[in-house]
Amino acid sequence: MAMNPSYNYDVCVLGGAGRAGLPLSLSFAKAGKKTVIYDINESTVNQINASEMPFMEEGASILLDVTLNKTLWATIDPKVVSESRFIVVTIGTPIDEYLNPSFTDMKNVMAFLEPYLKAPQIIILRSTVYPTISSTLQKQLDKTCPGVHVCFCPERIIEGKAIQEIETLPQIISGFDETAINQVKDLFMAISPEVIETSPLEAEFSKLFTNSYRYIQFAISNQFYMIAEQFGANTENIFHAMSHNYPRMSALAKPGFAAGPCLFKDTMQLSAFTNNTFFLGHSAMLINEGLPKFLVNQLKEKMTMLDKKIGILGMAFKAESDDSRESLSYKLRKLLNLEGARVLCSDVYLKDKDFVSEDVLIETCDIVIIGVPHQKYKTLSYSGCELIDMWGVS
Ligand SMILES: NC(=O)c1ccc[n+]([C@@H]2O[C@H](COP(=O)([O-])OP(=O)(O)OC[C@H]3O[C@@H](n4cnc5c(N)ncnc54)[C@H](O)[C@@H]3O)[C@@H](O)[C@H]2O)c1
Repeated sequence: MAMNPSYNYDVCVLGGAGRAGLPLSLSFAKAGKKTVIYDINESTVNQINASEMPFMEEGASILLDVTLNKTLWATIDPKVVSESRFIVVTIGTPIDEYLNPSFTDMKNVMAFLEPYLKAPQIIILRSTVYPTISSTLQKQLDKTCPGVHVCFCPERIIEGKAIQEIETLPQIISGFDETAINQVKDLFMAISPEVIETSPLEAEFSKLFTNSYRYIQFAISNQFYMIAEQFGANTENIFHAMSHNYPRMSALAKPGFAAGPCLFKDTMQLSAFTNNTFFLGHSAMLINEGLPKFLVNQLKEKMTMLDKKIGILGMAFKAESDDSRESLSYKLRKLLNLEGARVLCSDVYLKDKDFVSEDVLIETCDIVIIGVPHQKYKTLSYSGCELIDMWGVS
């Protein structure tokens, strides 16, 4: 039997400076696992090494402070990959301009990893992947790096609550080799309350089904909003009437922009996998992505927008976040500009030299649209401007 080599690190998180990778790295480090972040983004790696969180994440700053250079390291030097027992991959898995999954990044990473891999290392895919990718990668590695095993263990946290959720949510784990699965189980039991074992395909579906389900939940609320508004009814009153003390409506989401880097792309990944027969997913995409245009059309019915000053309050993709990726507020801005409006934007958490403060925005704009319901916007006075507030902030 081959001797197990000794490793400098328990875990290497590849892409560990990112929104999913960094909280996970911190959680492993907190649990005493010797964790090294390998990331190609040098400036973010430098920030982490200076004990600065590169983005907002509850409870992360303090963990970074206490683990850095004790059980956590960050580097742009790929040699740490070969020095680690487990390699957790958390790079982005985007869709392309045709709404199909783009495999290039994942393929490139795997090709790049090969010279650093040697049995019995284990690769844990944590990024959300197109179904069957885990199996394809395992087959590839069987040829190039025999004895290196792939496990797929999806990330299920929401940004902002990642640390807390890693410690409280069950962890789905899957793989192709019983010994590897057991070792990965032990690894995750150090940070998760329980693990659920499935086959890799079931784990891939579990993740995509979850995100698609949420996306569809938001879509039904947005469709109800659009129907109610078209007929001059108040959605907030309707939703209150529907859900107050009525348990079967407890899952009813608020209407509002359903955006961000995950829900849309994962619904489209599933659509692509099913040869575009995931009709609910496509319908949800049309509804959610159509909401900015609906708002603009509603305004157009009331007034000409040429030279109107319109403010968008909240540019992040969701409340209490500094992440602007795939935010529909930017789509709204584009559509308003196309109508000839002068658009001002503001956000409590995003820094942009073209943004203005919320006070200036409210004071100077004829119309204010709430793009995202940051807490602070609930405390502002909107007298003097017309407010479009699909979130029920005011
Ligand atoms: N953000 C979330 O809340 C969340 C939640 C669940 C699942 N996910 C999934 O996790 C994955 C990552 O998402 P994210 O939001 O963290 O993305 P991100 O862009 O914030 O992070 C990706 C990181 O990977 C790094 N990277 C890219 N190519 C690399 C390479 N070749 N070598 C080393 N590092 C590399 C980037 O520099 C970046 O730091 C996606 O599949 C996403 O769907 C994300």
